[in-house]
This record gives sequence, structure tokens and C-alpha cells, in this order.
Amino acid sequence: MTAKIADFLRDSRPATPCLVLDLDVVADNYRSLTTALPSARVFYAVKANPAPAILALLVEAGSSFDCASIPEIDMVLDAGATPDRISFGNTIKKESDVAAAFERGVRLFAFDCEAELDKISRAAPGSRVFCRILTSGEGAEWPLSRKFGCEPDMAEELLLAARFKGVEPYGVSFHVGSQQRDLAQYDAALEEVAGIFKSLSAKGLDLKMVNMGGGFATKYLVDIPTAEEYGRAIHESLLRHFGNRLPETIIEPGRGMVGNAGVIQSEVVLISRKSANDNRSWVYLDIGKFGGLAETMDEAIRYPIHSEHDGGETQDVILAGPTCDSADILYEHAGYQLPKALKIGDKVEIRAAGAYTTTYASNGFNGFAPLKEYYI
Ligand SMILES: Cc1ncc(COP(=O)(O)O)c(C=O)c1O
Repeated sequence: MTAKIADFLRDSRPATPCLVLDLDVVADNYRSLTTALPSARVFYAVKANPAPAILALLVEAGSSFDCASIPEIDMVLDAGATPDRISFGNTIKKESDVAAAFERGVRLFAFDCEAELDKISRAAPGSRVFCRILTSGEGAEWPLSRKFGCEPDMAEELLLAARFKGVEPYGVSFHVGSQQRDLAQYDAALEEVAGIFKSLSAKGLDLKMVNMGGGFATKYLVDIPTAEEYGRAIHESLLRHFGNRLPETIIEPGRGMVGNAGVIQSEVVLISRKSANDNRSWVYLDIGKFGGLAETMDEAIRYPIHSEHDGGETQDVILAGPTCDSADILYEHAGYQLPKALKIGDKVEIRAAGAYTTTYASNGFNGFAPLKEYYI
């Protein structure tokens, strides 16, 4: 937790649960990623956290933006970005939304099947299109496999067909899965993409761009590669597979841009046991799966949790949220321990919570308000 966040929590004593995010950390992350991958254009994945303060900072810093919907596009435009800095990267779009994006000046669109390509060619003629290929998602703590992308063979066919549909077949994209700590996954994906480039080049179509998506990790409980390590591995893979004909590259960091910048402060609502000889305490917080911690689904994302009792004797706990839904259990199998001294009314800090939290908070499930946010 940064000194700025600690000071804010101490001085302002905001009601909990709330997210406090240090914008200086976002600026640092942007600098690290652009330094590590100097030739890649950064398209911040707005879905990770679309707060106006973050978008304004990144507009000013020179970032471009990966948007999933018209409201995200409008937020980015409102923050001052021009439409040439926007990619409509969702592969699942209504045709009316493609048209609305086109009307706003967006000219870069993702697709992963013929029907989506047809929508773009009808509603956004002349635009640049890139085809997303499937990845295994192996190694990622929050995989994005199966649902998105197509097999490389199909990508080739669709990109060839795009030439005759009035759009510009511009490149190929992939996403190795979010919170991807295995750098070899980028290499495997780039090898496939290079194969597509080569094969299409032989058929007279020279693609220009590789969109390498996100995957850049945030430090939760275990160590992660540094931005330089991601950059070096990706650069080496690009050289290995593309030789001296390097394509334009794009990255779409979401989690890696904002995750470590935010802390959620929460209050312990209840601590209980289910029987006299129960060997684990249930610790119920004032935030759960429906309040912003949706990524605890299957205990996938494991947030570091701290309190003023850190360092004292600990005990095994099951952590849960405050709603009347038994799915609202955060960690039961992940082996969480919390200090024995922790008591009802204490505050806990859920760290590295700047990404994929505020927008996942439900709109009043059980009457609980969406997560409050402070950007400092
Ligand atoms: C198309 C696309 N790009 C980028 C991202 C951001 O990924 P990450 O948060 O792993 O950087 C996502 C996440 O869902 C995505 O769907």
C-alpha cells in the first residue's frame, strides 16, 4: 500500500467498503510498460477500471484504448481521446453498436468469425479489422480461452475474405489469459501468429499488426515477472518468429495497468464458528463476490489481505461476503489465515484491488450499494 493511500485512509476515514486508488502507480505502470515494450502501442483495456481519473491520466500520457462497448468508447472520448486511439476489441458486438462506433470515428475492430466480420463490413466500411485467434489460456489465473478467438486456419480464411468485403484485413490478435505469469505463452501465440502472417503473405496478403492483448500480471500473493521481463521475452519471441520483418504491435494491459494501484478497505462484520469443535473461523466482511470481488470466483484471484494485527498469531479462516447468498464465499479452499486478534469492527485492507472490482460490484444486491471509489 502506498503512503498516499495510507494517509488518505487515516485522514479521511471513508465509509467501507471502498476502493482507494493511487493514480501515481498507474502513471508508473504506464511508464514501465512503454519502456519495456518501446515499439508497441499501448491500448489500455478500459474494462479493468474505467474511472474518469484513470482515463484522463492515460489520455494525457499518450495511451490508446481497448473498448468493449459504446459506453466505454464514450467514456474514453469524454476523457479527451480522439477516435483513432480507440479499438473496439470485443468480438461480440451488436451491429448497431458497430455502426455507433463507426459514427464516432472508430476505425479499428476485432472479430473472430464470419458473422462478426460481416457486421463490421456492413456497419463500418473501410475500417481496419483484426482477427482474434484461440489460445489455451494455460498458465493464466483468469483464463480467457474457448469463448474468444478462432483456430488459425479459420483466421486465415476470414482475413483473406475480408479483402472482398470492403474492410482492411489489418492483423491478428490473441490474449494469453489474464494474470499470465508464464512468459512462454506469449511465445507460443506469437509463433502461431507468425505462421498466419507467412501463409497469408504467400497468398498475396501482407498483414501489418499483431495485437498481443493483456495478461500482464499484478502482484497478489505470489511473485510475478517484471515489466522488463515481459518486454524482453516478447521482444525475443517477435525476433524469433518474425525475423527482421517485425509487424506493428499493440498491447492491451488492463490488470497490469491498474491492479496494484488500488486497495479496498473493508470492515469485519462477523466472526463465527459453526460448532464448538469447528477448527476454522468464518470471517464475514462487508464486501464479497457481489460487492466487487467477483474474481474470487473459483478462488481464482487471491488478494493479499492485511490488518493492523499483521505479525500476530494466525488461524485458518473461511472468508465470506455479507449477502444472503451462499455463493458469496470468497476463500474456503485457498488456505487463508488471518490474525487470531482480528475482531468484529476491525478494518482489513484487500490489496492489489484496482482492477476488475468497481465495475463488477452489483447494483444493490441485498440493498448493498456499489463499491465506493476514491482516486487520489
Ligand atoms: C480483448 C481484451 N484485451 C485486454 C484485456 C485485458 O487483459 P488483462 O487485464 O489481462 O491485461 C482483456 C480482458 O478481458 C480483453 O478481453
